Amino acid sequence: MTINFNPGPSQPYPKIESFIADALSDGVAGWSHRSPEFSSMLTYTENNLRLLLEIPTDYHVWFLASATEAMERIIQNTVSTTSYHIEMGAFSAKFATIAEQLGKTVIRSTAEWGSRPDLDQLVVPDDVELIAVTHNETSTGVALDVGTINRLHSRYPKPLLAVDMVSSAPLTGLDLYQTDLAFFSVQKAFGLPSGLGVLIASPRALDTASRLLAAGQVIGSYHSFLSLAKSAAKHQTPETPNGLGIYLLGRVASDMLDIGLTTIRSQIDQQAAAIYTALETHPHLRPLVTNPVFRSSTVIVAEITGNNGQLLDSLSAVGHMVGKGYAHQRNSHIRIANFPAHIGTTPKLINLLGTGEMNSIKTAQHPGIGVGTYLIRDNRVLMGFRTTGHASGVWAPPGGHIEFGESPAQAASREVREETDLTIPIEAWRLGAVTNDLFAQNKKHYFTFALMADCPIGEPKVMEPYKLQEWSWFRISELPQPLMISVQNALEAGLDLSGAETVVTNI
Ligand SMILES: Cc1ncc(COP(=O)(O)O)c(C=O)c1O
Repeated sequence: MTINFNPGPSQPYPKIESFIADALSDGVAGWSHRSPEFSSMLTYTENNLRLLLEIPTDYHVWFLASATEAMERIIQNTVSTTSYHIEMGAFSAKFATIAEQLGKTVIRSTAEWGSRPDLDQLVVPDDVELIAVTHNETSTGVALDVGTINRLHSRYPKPLLAVDMVSSAPLTGLDLYQTDLAFFSVQKAFGLPSGLGVLIASPRALDTASRLLAAGQVIGSYHSFLSLAKSAAKHQTPETPNGLGIYLLGRVASDMLDIGLTTIRSQIDQQAAAIYTALETHPHLRPLVTNPVFRSSTVIVAEITGNNGQLLDSLSAVGHMVGKGYAHQRNSHIRIANFPAHIGTTPKLINLLGTGEMNSIKTAQHPGIGVGTYLIRDNRVLMGFRTTGHASGVWAPPGGHIEFGESPAQAASREVREETDLTIPIEAWRLGAVTNDLFAQNKKHYFTFALMADCPIGEPKVMEPYKLQEWSWFRISELPQPLMISVQNALEAGLDLSGAETVVTNI
């Protein structure tokens, strides 16, 4: 049987089959959400969560569709103008983006992937209404410790504090008295099928929603805080919810209470320590998070020499499904979930990582194929300053891997859209260079197509702030320094950024 080490949806909680069988025989799937059976089931789950997470009695517990929904509801109900976001990867960035999409002024404090901003040094302006932090950043495996979160709250008690604990709950250890909003979804450490989010809200957060509503702000409809609170007071939900999910969450929470969270946490921590040690001594893997204080126990991210395909396939062939990296790191990182459902399974995984079979990645490294996309406007070219990835601290045009099945021009248009939000038609690209690029420091090897296209209109946006600081147009004769190796190679080979299609190479 395959063990799922993906960070989510992840390995199912061990007793899930019997809980589902109980749900079916009890008829949970057919209960109306206005029925007394449903209300008592909701109360059961809520009470178990209150005990497990030590939720203050006057705090509210609401059931939503997902954690992403919780982010949107929080912004709608608690922010009139400004929110402040601590970004340590893709999910914390998503929270900030949602706030922007809802028209708020967003302040981001961003760290490169594998690290986190120094929360003790943050200066939060007076007009900030909400500070959003991610306890465990699932894209990077960076965690915030509870002491650091509490210190931030004591320095800035006025704004509401929202904590994303999606991939650490119920192991977060958060002092909810010091938090106004906390949320998670159930497909991670609870080991449940996806489709259910839980939002915990303080009385102060609910008061804020009432105040904003009175001031004329749109705070949503059926899942506004006021509507959620009204239904919850009757042990109901405003809409027909994921009743089976709520039931299963109650059963898993009850089982965890029986085992004891301290026992579970100490097993998870021991397993995490063993996984990090295995990664540190592995010939081709190393933990992405180098500072042990920043390391997550529940989602462990490693960088790999070369591409992760061979390793993930070999592990999967022996029943161990490990996660790819997230977003732009999908091929160059692996992510290992270490949730309660994984207790007892990680020694075998560690063993496998150390065996000759898995070390075959030594000989199975292949060069990657990438595109560098040179957008030209008025004799200028667009470059961005990269802050993370295999070429950080250098200037480079938009670009990235060519995906399976894509042509270089298709990859170029996709990368430009993903990184800048600009649209370049596929037929607009002309080939300028093909280069052989060795990134000695990171042991990476690429063949890169340098493609050029005219880009007369549109302003580039920084779509991946965790990867890139800014976009700027540079005169072709005055390019910034230092440049990414593939750009240096193309220019040395004679790439003519002002010219038509003439292919140069260094092969
Ligand atoms: C830290 C974090 N926040 C938010 C989310 C979004 O959760 P959902 O997909 O359940 O909305 C995820 C999903 O992986 C996550 O890992």
